[in-house]
Amino acid sequence: MEILRYVFLVFHLFGFAALMGGVFFQLRAKDPVAGSYMLTSAVVQLVTGAGLIWTRTTLDLGVVDAKMGVKSIAAAAVVAVAWK
Ligand code: HEM
Repeated sequence: MEILRYVFLVFHLFGFAALMGGVFFQLRAKDPVAGSYMLTSAVVQLVTGAGLIWTRTTLDLGVVDAKMGVKSIAAAAVVAVAWK
């Protein structure tokens, strides 16, 4: 279970990097848009985030509910903006 938590964490950080990469790439564009790769990244964040909550809860590590709420809203907002 501990290994699974680290697997989710690594993909969660990949998703974070992809999301930030997308933001900085679009900031350089003349007409910035939220591309489909940002939609994929946000879905990756939601799926791996849910996996992290599941593994942490199972291992009795717990999560900060307020932090999870803010992160869920942020990821859902990216999905809403990037949805075509
Ligand atoms: C905009 C979307 C998101 C970003 C940029 C993001 C970013 C991050 C980063 C950088 C970390 C590693 C630092 C830390 O441990 O606090 C992290 C950890 C974590 N994230 Fe996210 N996250 C996002 C969405 C979510 C969502 C939607 C969930 C769950 C509903 C979630 C659940 C978690 C959990 C449980 C951890 C702790 C992992 C651990 O310490 O083992 N995240 N997130």
